[in-house]
Amino acid sequence: GKGNYRHFMMKEIAEQPTVIGDTLQAFMNPLERRIQLPNLPIDLAKISRLTIVACGTAHLAGFVAKYWLESIARLPVDLDVASEFRYRQAPMDPNGAMLVISQSGETADTLAALRYAKSLGQKVISVLNVPESTIGRESDLVLHTLAGPEIGVASTKAFSTQLVVLACLALATARARGAIDAAREAALSAALTEVPARVAEILNHDAHLKEIALKVAEARDVLFLGRGTSYPIALEGALKLKEISYIHAEGYAAGEMKHGPIALIDENVPVIVVAPTDELFDKTFSNLQEVMARGGRVVFLSDADGVRKLGNQAMAVVELPKVDPFVAPILYTIPVQLLAYHAAIAKGTDVDQPRNLAKSVTVE
Ligand code: M6R
Repeated sequence: GKGNYRHFMMKEIAEQPTVIGDTLQAFMNPLERRIQLPNLPIDLAKISRLTIVACGTAHLAGFVAKYWLESIARLPVDLDVASEFRYRQAPMDPNGAMLVISQSGETADTLAALRYAKSLGQKVISVLNVPESTIGRESDLVLHTLAGPEIGVASTKAFSTQLVVLACLALATARARGAIDAAREAALSAALTEVPARVAEILNHDAHLKEIALKVAEARDVLFLGRGTSYPIALEGALKLKEISYIHAEGYAAGEMKHGPIALIDENVPVIVVAPTDELFDKTFSNLQEVMARGGRVVFLSDADGVRKLGNQAMAVVELPKVDPFVAPILYTIPVQLLAYHAAIAKGTDVDQPRNLAKSVTVE
């Protein structure tokens, strides 16, 4: 049941410290304090390319994984939505492998993409919340997200636990490929270990995010901006908001603003900027100044260093804990979930069962 919560979505958001911890433990060797994956059907050191395919929120988890695998593990990654990939007759590298991501393990397009890849002789690893599913049965190996049953149509804890599994995969791949030294691997593993506690801290910002969501809920259109691994989180924030509040929202790579969307900016458009202080922060910050110069009302998600730099110029500021940029996308997921949830409540929509949507899309 929902326990003391009004909606499954809020219950599932609140479960994240626990289920992220459970998922991490399943892939962490406690003695060596390092990531250990089960025996894989492929050699991570030798594959030439990984093709990641999924739908919706699971696709956005794959988007973060692409950034991690390319930058940390130096593995080339192709990423697509399953409904495009499956019909394209894409050639697949004989030394490549496929990764599919799905909460339910029953999504029709994702399953079709898996079958296509297998017909070309690719090995398939899947990241699933329901291992005893059709995709689970047809995969060569399942990496299990331990999110527990997710009832709300909006995916929340499934997404954050997918990110955790994919972060573990990125570290294991980096080690196998000699792309990371022991000290850096230890630092990134330690950053992952801290995530459950940091997520719990962020959940304490709920009342503040609710206030911000009341303002966001008055808008007709909302933009989410981010760079690097914050770009997929901007996309996820926009997907969550439109799915449950029915407010039109778009996620954009911050650097693409000046190539078109900046024309939309005025005082009626809230712009939610996902901006942990990482190596791209200054670039995002100058995009944010362009937005403010055109009257855009900024909701700034950053850490103490970013907040200090911005000063008092935004419509709202949410100060998140300062963490290694590697784990920032996991943490910055939480405020965009809470913003969408409270905006939906303000709009009076059916949060757990939004119109026109099904939890599991088993038709093409
Ligand atoms: O079960 P799956 O992860 O394969 O589902 C994929 C999408 O249908 C799903 O993530 C959808 O986008 C969510 N409703 C988003 O919150």
